[in-house]
Parts: sequence; structure tokens; C-alpha cells
Amino acid sequence: MAQFVQAVLAAAATFFLITLIFAFIALVCKPTKNQDYQRRQRRHHQTRTVPNPEHSSITIDESATFDPSMNRISMEELKMSTKNFSTDLIIGDGSFGLVYKAKLFNGSTVAIKKLDPDAFQGFREFRAEMETLGKLRHQNIVKILGYCVSGLERVLILEFVERGSLDQWIHDTSSTNNEPSVKSPLPWETRVKILRGVATGLAYLHGLDTPIIHRDIKASNVLLDPEFEAHIADFGLARRIDSSQSHVSTQVAGTMGYMPPEYKEGAAATVRVDVYSFGILMFEVATAERPNLPKVMEGKEVWLIEWARKMLGQNRHMEMLDSNTPKEGLSEDEVKEYFRIASLCTEEFRGRPAMSEVVGLLKKLSS
Ligand SMILES: Nc1ncnc2c1ncn2[C@@H]1O[C@H](COP(=O)(O)OP(=O)(O)OP(=O)(O)O)[C@@H](O)[C@H]1O
Ligand SMILES: *[C@@H]1O[C@H](CO)[C@@H](O)[C@H](O)[C@H]1NC(C)=O
Ligand SMILES: *[C@@H]1O[C@H](CO)[C@@H](O)[C@H](O)[C@H]1NC(C)=O
Ligand SMILES: [Mg+2]
Repeated sequence: MAQFVQAVLAAAATFFLITLIFAFIALVCKPTKNQDYQRRQRRHHQTRTVPNPEHSSITIDESATFDPSMNRISMEELKMSTKNFSTDLIIGDGSFGLVYKAKLFNGSTVAIKKLDPDAFQGFREFRAEMETLGKLRHQNIVKILGYCVSGLERVLILEFVERGSLDQWIHDTSSTNNEPSVKSPLPWETRVKILRGVATGLAYLHGLDTPIIHRDIKASNVLLDPEFEAHIADFGLARRIDSSQSHVSTQVAGTMGYMPPEYKEGAAATVRVDVYSFGILMFEVATAERPNLPKVMEGKEVWLIEWARKMLGQNRHMEMLDSNTPKEGLSEDEVKEYFRIASLCTEEFRGRPAMSEVVGLLKKLSS
């Protein structure tokens, strides 16, 4: 009997020891594995949809599309300035790759967007971003400074916009990879200023001889400079509209919660798609509620837009505001007008104003 107890004890001890060893190994290997895992997880949960490349008529022919006046920067320089794409220089993680902060040899600080070669859409995204962003010059559009192609690697060099994305300023209180940032809540006037900037940038895009539809207007694609001037980023889904048509007929693309209802009926993208997304962004910025997460109202799950319509219908606009916004001196009339503009933008597509009109309405607000 004693022998039996001994055997059991020995077995238990061995098991415990082995578990301990495995736990130790797991702990030591954790940091890299875990990060990779989280990235994959995030990517998996990302709600952005992109068109199926098989239906695309555009072939990949780089040399023909790259603007020769644009700076081509060598992969060597990029490797050196990002410490071999070191994880501690990552400032963002999008559905098509990682974004790094880097200092080029000439001393300029830039953002480097390295497209994930696994992301099958990457090439098309890269091309779209190069083609559209490369030729634009506007204070509310992020500048592209150069690019790099090396084997399967595709890298975009963008102007670095110091304060990061609007998304972080509205929702984020935790941290990004290198800056544990508790950001102070934005005052109301700053929120209006940012939206005025976004609207101005969009009005510029829509007003070009061959208009550009951005198709992915959302808080994470609006970057903020030290003066909280907005810079629209991420032109991966943007498309030009030829003068012969008024829409692009590629498949539905965009981000859940920001996509207009006409997409459900299979409608093609027009500039009014951006107007809708902008209206959703206005609701998001004022309320700090995420458009792609349902809210519970009267025991039912509703989307931000439905919730907003119900609340406005009950004249509860002041209750809708982000509880972090300082409300002193905030005029109720102004809040009402703000939500009226947001509602106009999110109307059925025939009723939506043009972006240039929205700029006018926002200028009259709090001026
Ligand atoms: N030029 C830049 N300057 C400063 N930060 C940037 C710049 N470009 C991107 N970022 C940061 O990197 C993040 C990721 O950008 P990216 O556009 O790749 O992905 P996303 O907008 O988060 O997601 P999605 O791919 O669905 O659009 C941004 O939200 C922003 O915080
Ligand atoms: C980058 O990696 C290469 C080899 O892969 C190495 O020789 C070089 O020293 C590394 N550079 C930095 C800055 O870490
Ligand atoms: C450094 O190079 C980048 C990219 O070519 C360019 O946009 C920037 O103006 C340069 N900066 C300086 C200080 O020359
Ligand atoms: Mg983005």
C-alpha cells in the first residue's frame, strides 16, 4: 500500500514539474508569439470589406503607374531607419500592413506603411494609394513623400502626422505600442474644427475634374497634426470617377457601420457614399460611440445611426454627447444644428447634401 502511495506521489510530482517547465517555456516565448497572435486576431475581426480581385479589370503593372517625379527610396535606407522594421517603432496596424515611425537619412521624420505581402489585396491597395495620393496637394489630405518596391515588398512613405488618428482621440484611453497615452478629451470646438477639416478635404476630392471617392472615411483614417487640423489618410480604396460616368462599379468596399444603406441594394459607389460616412463620423465624434458596435436601447440592439435618430426624435440631443466633453458654455442650438447636419448627411442618398454644402454649414456653426 505504501508503495502504491509512493508511486502516486511520484507521478504527481513529475506531472507538476513538467507543467512547471512548460509554463516557464511558454512564458519565455510569449512576447513575440503573443504579438503575432494578436495581430492575426485583429485582422480576423476587422470588418473592412474589399472587393474581390478576381472581378477587377485592372492588372498590376507597376512601372507604368508610378509617377516618375516621386521619390523612390531604397529598401536599405528604410531598413536602417526603422531598425529592420522593429516592433517598437510600430505606430499603427491596419488591415493591409503595419505603419512605422522612421527618421530618414536626411533627418525627416516620416510614417512608413509596409504592406503585408500575405494580404492578397495589397498590390492593388498600394497602387490605388500611389495613384491617387501621389498627385494630390491639399492641407487636409495626407502627403505621400515616396515609395519603395523590392521583390514582394511594397512600402509607402508618408508625411508623419504627429497626433495620430482621430480614432485614438475619441475612443482610446489605453495605449498604442510605444506611447501609453491617456489622451485628454477633445473640447467641442476642436471636434468641430477637425470635422470642418475632413469636410474641406472631401469637398476638394469630390470637386476635382475627375472626382475621387475615398470610400473608407472613418475615424482611424483621419490623422491630426499639432494644431488639430485634420489630414485624410488611407487611399487604398479610393477610386477616380471618369468623366463619362458618375460612379464606380467595383464591388462594395468600406468599413462596417460607415457604409451607406444603398450598398445593400447593390448600388454603385458615388461621391454620396463619402457624405454618408462623413455623417456617421459626425455622430461618432460627438457621442464617442462606435458606429460598428451595436448599442442596447429599450432592450434591443441598435446601430449608432438608429440610436441617434431615435434620440433626436425624442429631442434628447444633449444626452447624446460624449460624457467627457466639457459642456460649459456649449450652446444647445449649436448642438442641435450639428446633429441636423449629421442627419442630413446620413439621409437616403438623394437627400444628402454635397460636401461643399456641408463645409458651408459647418463654417456657420460656432463661428
Ligand atoms: N502618416 C501617418 N502619421 C501618423 N500616424 C499614422 C500615419 N499613417 C497611419 N498612421 C497610424 O497608423 C494607423 C493604421 O493605419 P492604417 O490606415 O494602415 O490602418 P487603419 O486605418 O487602422 O485600418 P484600415 O486598414 O482598416 O484602414 C492609423 O490609424 C494611425 O494611427
Ligand atoms: C538588420 O539585420 C541585418 C541582418 O539581417 C544586420 O546585419 C543588421 O545589423 C541589422 N540592423 C539593425 C539596425 O538592427
Ligand atoms: C527628406 O526626404 C523626403 C523624402 O524624399 C522629403 O520629402 C523631405 O522633404 C526631405 N527632408 C529634408 C529635410 O530635406
Ligand atoms: Mg486606415
